[in-house]
Amino acid sequence: MVRSLRLSLRFLLPLALAMLALAYVAVPLVDSLTLRWFMRDLDTRAGVIGRALEEPVLDAVEGQAWTRLDAQLERVAGDERLLALAVCSPDGQMLRKTRLTPPELNCRSAQQLREGESQMLPLPRGPVHLATLALKRDGVNAGTLLLVHDMSFIERRSQDTRRYVIVLFAVLGMLLALIAMLVAHMSWRGWVAGVRAMLKGEGVIRPFSHPRPELQPLVGDLRSLLRDMERERRSADAGVAVNWTPEALRRLLHDQLRGDEILLVSNREPYIHVKAAGGIEVQRPASGLVTAVEPVMRACSGTWIAHGSGSADRDVVDSRGRLRVPPGEQSYTLRRIWLTKAEERGYYYGFANEGLWPLCHIAHVRPVFRDEDWRQYRRVNERFADAVAQEAKTDDPVVLIQDYHFALLPRMVRERLPRATIITFWHIPWPNPESFGICPWRAEILEGLLGSTILGFHTRYHGHNFLEAVDRFLEARIEYDDSTVSFGGRLTRVESFPISIAWPEGTTGRPVEECRASVVARFGLPENHLVGLGVDRLDYTKGIVERLLAVERLFELYPQWIGRFTFIQIAAPSRSSLEEYQRFEAQVRAAAARINARFGEAGYEPVRLLIEHHSSVSVNEHYRAADVCVVTSLHDGMNLVAKEYIAAREDDRGVLILSQFAGAARELHEALIVNPYHIEEVAEALNRALGMPAEEQRERMVSLRRLVREFNVYRWAGRMLLEAARVRQRERISARIGESQGVSRDAIVLK
Ligand code: G6P
Repeated sequence: MVRSLRLSLRFLLPLALAMLALAYVAVPLVDSLTLRWFMRDLDTRAGVIGRALEEPVLDAVEGQAWTRLDAQLERVAGDERLLALAVCSPDGQMLRKTRLTPPELNCRSAQQLREGESQMLPLPRGPVHLATLALKRDGVNAGTLLLVHDMSFIERRSQDTRRYVIVLFAVLGMLLALIAMLVAHMSWRGWVAGVRAMLKGEGVIRPFSHPRPELQPLVGDLRSLLRDMERERRSADAGVAVNWTPEALRRLLHDQLRGDEILLVSNREPYIHVKAAGGIEVQRPASGLVTAVEPVMRACSGTWIAHGSGSADRDVVDSRGRLRVPPGEQSYTLRRIWLTKAEERGYYYGFANEGLWPLCHIAHVRPVFRDEDWRQYRRVNERFADAVAQEAKTDDPVVLIQDYHFALLPRMVRERLPRATIITFWHIPWPNPESFGICPWRAEILEGLLGSTILGFHTRYHGHNFLEAVDRFLEARIEYDDSTVSFGGRLTRVESFPISIAWPEGTTGRPVEECRASVVARFGLPENHLVGLGVDRLDYTKGIVERLLAVERLFELYPQWIGRFTFIQIAAPSRSSLEEYQRFEAQVRAAAARINARFGEAGYEPVRLLIEHHSSVSVNEHYRAADVCVVTSLHDGMNLVAKEYIAAREDDRGVLILSQFAGAARELHEALIVNPYHIEEVAEALNRALGMPAEEQRERMVSLRRLVREFNVYRWAGRMLLEAARVRQRERISARIGESQGVSRDAIVLK
């Protein structure tokens, strides 16, 4: 309100001043114009009266009938405006004059006026208008008749006119200001709405709405401006503006953390050794978490503690379950933890994947909570906490805890290593307090996580949901502005750190053309065939069924694509001993089979479903071959497939269709953002992507690539470690102050 008043004043004041200045210029102009009109009127009037009096005056002068003449002149001069009349002899003597004739009037000077000319005399009593008429009889000059008109009424009228003009300008000014403000307000609102929609990616990049036409040329500029602003904000967040590389991360560790020890804990291990026909094979798991975190560990060294789940895992470790990885490079230590079948069933399949996973992903699968699962979950968390304590070489290591398998671990580590800096990252969404409240052990989970020094989520929204859950279910002090929770005498900072991938540097496998040729050949497709791609774990949160329904709808709405387009779905088997996952696999298979039966023919299978593990090299080849990559998660913390597809497209081609419910949609605005539940919308986006001109593809892809390259996983880790370094420094200073004042370290609440 105050702001809009200020704005209006800022606008109205100059306008009012301009109007005033205009009035000042206009008033003298109008004045002189009206004066000229009045003079002309008086000239005419004087002429008419003079001509009417000419004969009687001549007669009276000739007959020297002065009394008659005087009476006649006085009668005529009784007119309201005519002030005086006088008769002059040809030699300039005033023969007769009426009573009110001004004494200053002089026959000689009046006779200087030419025929038809008039004069304004500024007399002390006020200005008068003087006109003369030459009296002639038979062409002989017989004297002059002087006619004096009072001009004070002109002065009065001129004042009135001046007032009217000023009032008129004032009213006009107000009207103009009001209209201008109204128009500006309306178009500003339109603009703001347009720009807002554009910034959200609606109307500019979403397929179903259009931006205001006048905004169209600005879209590119605004996008890059926004990117710059976002970049600045992020670099301010990070505290330092660096080009994030493995080397930069190593430097950070060395300079800011004094080379302190790093321990990382996750359930899934980065390398799985399995027994195969030809001996032991090493596999990389299909896990976004592992893909992202592994390059960070390579850069940081340290120890990674994880569940040893491979059939040959025990065969390759030392007596304490350790080995150096990656194979051949040996940058860091992998410490494997062995779980019993009962532990794995209760902790991993049960509480983590039948309880927390559906609880946090709003994907319409009911969470299941069993006491036994909870017991195992707690037990396994304890076992990992023991392992952290065993592996720690110092009493204040930096411990990086990953994901929902370890909600209790931060507190357990804190109990064992009170001086550790614990960074926990929750890779999946965090639900709203109502949904979270379903969990019977909600308070224990929150308390467990609040053992962390820093707790990270991909998006602010999920972090906020966490704070709200704490507010609802615990007695803790929350500072929403600082995003901190104070609980049990300790402070936890809750932050968003959007995860990313390691940007591929240097040679990155075979060129795009070769990859495309080999994929096209493998599936027996014609050269110019269009290829769509989905890459996921076979998980009900990924929207795979919805995606296939959209492909089916595409063929119904746009039959021209039948025979010209194939959709390849790579689906890595996942958690397949769980019933929900088995049911899901059956649904996916049924949908693919139905589409192939409806639209396929001999030699053409519109959907190719590949339910098997693919190496990263093979996935990369498919990324490069695909004209469109479809990510339709129903709910996803981030989704790194979207970023991997972008990184693979060195040729700046290809279109990304991305679910609005994936964390990645908050960053990748140039993708075609869709609601995966709206099948028609996804089908339309597919149609749009398949027909998208190369130039538009390039424009979008170049922009996406720039973003992912810069906001890579080293930055993700770097920001968290920088934050950790700041906290450690503060803790050291506080501890020193505490010691010098005789206060125990544990009693200090760190800010
Ligand atoms: C998600 C989770 C990860 C997990 C991955 C694979 O991305 O956030 O923690 O590793 O799924 O699932 P899995 O159960 O096979 O490890």
